[in-house]
Amino acid sequence: MNITILGPGAIGSLYAYRLNQAGHSVSLWGRHPASPVEFSLDECPVLSFANRDRHCLQHCDLLIVTLKAWQVEAALSPILEMLHQDTIILFLHNGMGTVERLQAQLHNRPVLLGTTTHGALRVTANEIRHTGQGQTLIGAWNPLGQQCQFVAEVLDHAIAPVKWHEDIRSALWTKLIINCAINPLTATLDCQNGQLVHSQYRSQLSAIVSEAAMCARTQTIELDDKALLQTVLTVAKATEENYSSMHQDIYNKRQSEIDFITGYVLDIAQKYQLAVPQNAALFQQIKQIEASWSQHD
Ligand code: NAP
Ligand code: PAF
Repeated sequence: MNITILGPGAIGSLYAYRLNQAGHSVSLWGRHPASPVEFSLDECPVLSFANRDRHCLQHCDLLIVTLKAWQVEAALSPILEMLHQDTIILFLHNGMGTVERLQAQLHNRPVLLGTTTHGALRVTANEIRHTGQGQTLIGAWNPLGQQCQFVAEVLDHAIAPVKWHEDIRSALWTKLIINCAINPLTATLDCQNGQLVHSQYRSQLSAIVSEAAMCARTQTIELDDKALLQTVLTVAKATEENYSSMHQDIYNKRQSEIDFITGYVLDIAQKYQLAVPQNAALFQQIKQIEASWSQHD
């Protein structure tokens, strides 16, 4: 397939490299017009990729969006008109709400949503490390996307395991709630994920999860609060030595994905007049930290 990666950072470069190894024709669409882009993956040799090549973009069968959630709208809007109407667009980022913001421009195109638990790190501009073996779930956002189940097989061949999920919204909500619980707390407490397993955080985690699950129910997503809390604790334990992505963003004074994680829950809560005090407080704390940078720097 002709595949373009929009936002070739850590995760996007990992996917680009593996898809290239699997025999696909892969190009990148990064922020800077530097072509070609070269990088290695772990111990594997340096590969060269076309970057911001209009011809590649116009002929791509699959566009994989691996931007940070807050970058998606600004990056995708200007290139949509260059894409063929049949190009499949797969959104593969943390958080929710990006596709809704582009709904009018996307509804006539095959759109897929996905979530991955792989870990990737950009060590230098030319070195990518696959830091954690994970799995990827993808599924349809619209009826045209429903006809693209073969994409799961294509990706599975390159970066297994990739599974098709008939109810991808439910999987994304589960991931969203895990992120609502782990990300802002680890960022504000300045701690590794494993810290949250301690009993002193149990009632706060439980409240965060229950508030978010209540919002999910308004979207016809039925998730069990107790099972979700258990999942959060399992993920925190399994990644105990990791710093969450939001911790890393805040630590490095980079804009976080809070608007598309906790902020997504808050938007629904406001729409349905639901009380979500724990999530609202964490949202405010992260926003205050982000606002303080521009005041002091
Ligand atoms: P990242 O390294 O920051 O990658 C984003 C890339 O998009 C960067 O290379 C960035 O370029 C580029 N970009 C920004 N604006 C752009 C634009 N207008 N046009 C084209 N490219 C643009 O982030 P990441 O760690 O790969 O994460 C991507 C998403 O995957 C996030 O939602 C994250 O939460 C999720 N995720 C990440 C991991 C992981 O292990 N890394 C695991 C699971 C999920 P600049 O650097 O030049 O700004
Ligand atoms: O965003 C992250 O860091 C990850 O999605 C997770 C699951 C919280 C583990 O660190």
